[in-house]
Amino acid sequence: MTGMRRRSELDASPPVHRGMKDTLDKSVFRKTLPVLAARVPSPKAGLFLKSEALRRSIINLPKIRSVVPDPSDSKDTRLVLFRVSENADLPPEAQDFLREQSADILRYNLDLNYDYWTADEILHSVLPEELCEGAPSGFAITGHIAHVNLNDEYLPYKHVIGQVILDKNKAVRTVVNKLNSIDTKFRFFKMELLAGEPDYVVEHHESDCRFIFDFTKVYWNSRLHTEHDRLVQLFKPEDVVADVFAGVGPFAIPAAKKGCAVVANDLNPDSYLYLKKNIELNHVSTVVRAYCEDGREFIKAAVPRALNEPFPPYKNPKENKSRNRHKSSSNVPVPVPAPELPPRKRISHFVMNLPDTAIEFLDAFRGIMSDSANEEGTRDLSGIYDVMPMVHCHCFTRELEPDKAEKDIRARVQHRLGYTFTGSDEVSLHLVRSVAPNKDMYCISFRLPREVAFA
Ligand SMILES: C[S@@+](CC[C@H](N)C(=O)[O-])C[C@H]1O[C@@H](n2cnc3c(N)ncnc32)[C@H](O)[C@@H]1O
Repeated sequence: MTGMRRRSELDASPPVHRGMKDTLDKSVFRKTLPVLAARVPSPKAGLFLKSEALRRSIINLPKIRSVVPDPSDSKDTRLVLFRVSENADLPPEAQDFLREQSADILRYNLDLNYDYWTADEILHSVLPEELCEGAPSGFAITGHIAHVNLNDEYLPYKHVIGQVILDKNKAVRTVVNKLNSIDTKFRFFKMELLAGEPDYVVEHHESDCRFIFDFTKVYWNSRLHTEHDRLVQLFKPEDVVADVFAGVGPFAIPAAKKGCAVVANDLNPDSYLYLKKNIELNHVSTVVRAYCEDGREFIKAAVPRALNEPFPPYKNPKENKSRNRHKSSSNVPVPVPAPELPPRKRISHFVMNLPDTAIEFLDAFRGIMSDSANEEGTRDLSGIYDVMPMVHCHCFTRELEPDKAEKDIRARVQHRLGYTFTGSDEVSLHLVRSVAPNKDMYCISFRLPREVAFA
């Protein structure tokens, strides 16, 4: 810069202490910033703050008040803080204003410590310079657990990173690093504790429901929230839903809260345990039945089970309320009650969220409605199943172009069903999310072909 005087800006960045690894020494994060201040009569502080002449000079640091009590203990005066430390650094209009007001100008020390700086700022001052860009101050949160997925180069600093995340986020009690190995059978992540309490049983809220589970023993992914919502919105309150790979209930419980009757299954005994807990916790035990079976057996048993042990009919809570309201006011005619609905014995939807292998379970649908599959082969299901169930099957594909992805998924589904979809079949594909640069997750929804179910 030539000819112009450069105003010295306050440097409120934390002191640099690179290379801290195993423990975070918070005491080294201290800084005293000397700033200029004007001592003003308390009632006049507002006038100073609003003054156009001081607009560019009043302090503007995050979390720092621009008016503070006077350290001289005078009750009648306050200090207005400026963003410079030297009188000469104030712009001329500010100096004129302060002179006109005969303000007393003094130095004031702002003491900053570890609590002042953000997680990002602290990490930037402790990590080696080359790791600062892309420093993992972001994390996903499940209940009280924050989880990061650290790249190898950050591993030597994992405990410091964990401690900073813990300190800077009030809702977090435990910080873990998700390791890259996933349990191949039950899909839960292996994880290591970085900071905080070794308490992995969380209470997580999604879609107005409460879920309790042990994050080290069952599958949970908050990124699937939209997908859970999307399918639940497709269900009608009077539907019966069969959730083949239910986990701890993120489809089953919101569906039940909506009114659906649900049979929910998971082979992982821990998922089953927490599924049952969550059913209780969300007061939906009259409409959700839990099972701990292999998905294939569950699919085969679902149709006869619903038939032999039907669910009570759906009751619209609004109708009940309006009837009660009329009952209590005697002069209003009571509305004619809605006709009693029949018990629910027809499954309307199958949900299959086990994207790695769900397609391989589709052959279990072959013959599920055939004579031999239901009790002693005596019932003709074609009447009850005048409308066939929808199957929502999640899967992965490495084909990233939508047309190719659709072709790949349809081919695998058709092969497993032993059936080729025709133009009149109801089939749709939904891109759920991209899980890796070369891998997308989809949900294929199709109406179960009669030829398959009655095969
Ligand atoms: C990807 S998770 C989905 C859980 C839940 N539906 C959700 O959306 O979060 C798949 C679930 O399938 C369960 N699972 C794995 N193999 C199974 C099998 N053969 N039969 C039934 N459940 C199985 C796992 O324990 C896991 O909870």
